Amino acid sequence: MELRVKRAPRIDLEITVPGDKSISHRAVVIAALSNGVCTLQGFLPSEDCMHTVNAMRALGVKIEQPEPTTLIVHGKKRVLTPPKNEINCGNSGTTMRLLAGLLAGQTFESRLVADAGLSRRPMDRVIAPLCEMGASIVAEGPDQTAPLRVSGGSLRGIHYCPSVASAQVKGALLLAGLFARGKTTVEEPLPTRNHMEKMFNYFLVRTATEEAGSVTVFGDQVPESRDFAIPGDISSAAFWLVAAAAQRRGHLLIRDVGLNDTRTALLGVLLRMGAQVREAVEGVDQVEPRGIVEVTGFPLKGTVIQGKEVPRLIDELPILSVAGALANGRTVIRQAGELRVKETDRIAAIAHNLRTMGTQVAELNDGLEISGPAPLHGAQVASFGDHRIAMAFAIAGLFAEGETVVQDAECIRESYPGFETMLEEFSNPKRMQVSTPVIGSLTPTAPGEG
Ligand code: S3P
Repeated sequence: MELRVKRAPRIDLEITVPGDKSISHRAVVIAALSNGVCTLQGFLPSEDCMHTVNAMRALGVKIEQPEPTTLIVHGKKRVLTPPKNEINCGNSGTTMRLLAGLLAGQTFESRLVADAGLSRRPMDRVIAPLCEMGASIVAEGPDQTAPLRVSGGSLRGIHYCPSVASAQVKGALLLAGLFARGKTTVEEPLPTRNHMEKMFNYFLVRTATEEAGSVTVFGDQVPESRDFAIPGDISSAAFWLVAAAAQRRGHLLIRDVGLNDTRTALLGVLLRMGAQVREAVEGVDQVEPRGIVEVTGFPLKGTVIQGKEVPRLIDELPILSVAGALANGRTVIRQAGELRVKETDRIAAIAHNLRTMGTQVAELNDGLEISGPAPLHGAQVASFGDHRIAMAFAIAGLFAEGETVVQDAECIRESYPGFETMLEEFSNPKRMQVSTPVIGSLTPTAPGEG
């Protein structure tokens, strides 16, 4: 499938975005371990999250889906059954890494397989600590890559300091920690998204934060079953927020989006780049803050993104690079080497596509230096099989002269079913909805700060 995009008319819209991907994965897994029936609303029915749902079904959990965004999960009180077949994680790194942690706690053996893209991504980051806890994990691919053969059972809690800041690693260890003797502590080099901790708290699993940057879970606990409503995904919202921010007088209001502050660094960057950004938390009743974000576009200026800000906007760096190409001056992204091991090498992919569209870019080992503003011209750009690259360059197409064709765009279904329809709305607005709520504004952050 290809996406064809032309320059956008003036943006003035009010929208919502589908459910948060990270939270959807975690909610399914924790509900499945709980002691009763949980209804999850706002679930993201994307390919990645459905891999997690099907994995839990393969482990004996009954999960009904009366509507695409509603799941009824029949918790198994932590007692999972051995899968009859290997478990396919598709291209979902979150599924594979979280499942590795969960399965490390089971006495039976299971095998996790992946498609070609995920089979190239590093798994040693979860294998090493899970083996330290007492699991046995054999990576059948070269250099500690999938397929993974996992067996475990009698785990002991450890204190682990991962060398990379990764919420997937933290999540895997905390899930294994639920099945371990004693306590399991993860001390991160930089704070990452804290959805697993929040979800544990919501499902009444005891955790502790002894010092900033470390989280502990106590073993041998059963999550208490509860219903949960998943907010919209700020990482999906990011594409439209950048589109509005980069268009002079563009205006966008997004409702019911997740505003967890381990995920909202994008808003601070857009503000620093010169956009007007307002956010208002409307509810935290189910531990994850949710609310409204409103952006008004101004001529953007380049900025520096590095340090502790990086894990808090790691998935937004492709679209922020597009913002950089449209901004005046240099945008520098550093200390983001993790981008090289995402669904594709995102540093190389962004540099390649920005150049194809007429932007001057220097590729750094751990980031990018982008010189703007570029008069983008329409071109054929590749997705590299990466959903966020495909979506970021569809948005670039909204600012280009002539037509942009994003090739192999079907990967978008991994995280954002409905993206194409929303893109149509931005390219060809039928129902202009204008709204101007009065909400508090963000305080600008200094470059590199969170
Ligand atoms: C995710 C964590 C991040 C992010 C990914 C989803 C999660 O990956 O890039 O899209 O749900 O835990 P890392 O933990 O590898 O940084």
